[in-house]
Amino acid sequence: MLLAKSTWPEIEAFLQRSRTVVVPVGSNEQHGPTGLLGTDWMCPEIIAHHASAAGGDLLVAPTFAVGMAQHHLGFPGTISLRPSTMIAALRDWTLSLAAHGFERIYYLNGHGGNVATLEAAFSEVYSEASYGGRPRGFSLRLRNWWDLPGVLRLCSRLFPEGHGSHATPSEVAVTQFGYPDAIKSATYAPRIAPTGPIREAADFRTRYPDGRMGSDPAQASPEKGREIVELASKALLDEVAGFAAEPMLTG
Ligand code: NI
Repeated sequence: MLLAKSTWPEIEAFLQRSRTVVVPVGSNEQHGPTGLLGTDWMCPEIIAHHASAAGGDLLVAPTFAVGMAQHHLGFPGTISLRPSTMIAALRDWTLSLAAHGFERIYYLNGHGGNVATLEAAFSEVYSEASYGGRPRGFSLRLRNWWDLPGVLRLCSRLFPEGHGSHATPSEVAVTQFGYPDAIKSATYAPRIAPTGPIREAADFRTRYPDGRMGSDPAQASPEKGREIVELASKALLDEVAGFAAEPMLTG
C-alpha cells in the first residue's frame, strides 16, 4: 500500500490495524558515467514498492529523495541538503507521521552519506520526547538496503571484484531492473575506479574524475538487479514485521 496512492480515509482505516510505516530515503547525486542521478533514492524505493506489491500490509510513505551529498556537488545534476537542513526536514517528516499515530517509523536508506545525519535527526526527535515534549512512545529504525539480511552476501557473490563503494554494480543493477528504459553504457577507464577518502566536492572530483569509487558498474544487469530486489524485499517484509511486533515500553 502506497501512501501517495491512498486517501486520508484509507490511512485512517490503516491506522486501526497497524502503526508502522516504511519511508524510503536516499539522495539525488552523480553515480559515475552510467549510474542514474536518482540511484540512491530509486534503490530503496524500488525495494520497498516491490515488497509492498508482493503482499502483506506494508505501508510505504513518499520517498525522501534528496539527501546529504555535498561531496558530489562537483558533478552536474547533484542536489544536496546540508546536514542541518536534512535534520530539520526529517524531523518534520517524522513528527507529521507520528502526529497521526504512527509509532514505528522505518527508514530504508539508499545512501551511505545520509547515515550520520539520519542518526542525528533521530536523536533530535527522541530528545523532544525526553525533554517532555510530544510525541513519546514511538520507535524509529534506520536500515541501509544493502544491510538487509543476506543482501551483502548476494552482492559479493554476484560481483566478487570491483564492487566498490560508490556507483556500485549492485545499485546500478537495481536501477536497471526498476527502470529498464534508462540503462546507459560507457567505456570505463580504469575498469575499476580508485578508492580513498571523502572530503569536499572539488577534492572528490580530483580523486574520482568520473565519479565512481572502487567500482566496475559494467558488471550490472537487470537480471542481477531482479535477484537483489527479490531477496531484499523479502528481507524487508520480515524485518518490518519484527519491528511492528516489538512491544512498546512506554505507556
Ligand atoms: Ni549510491
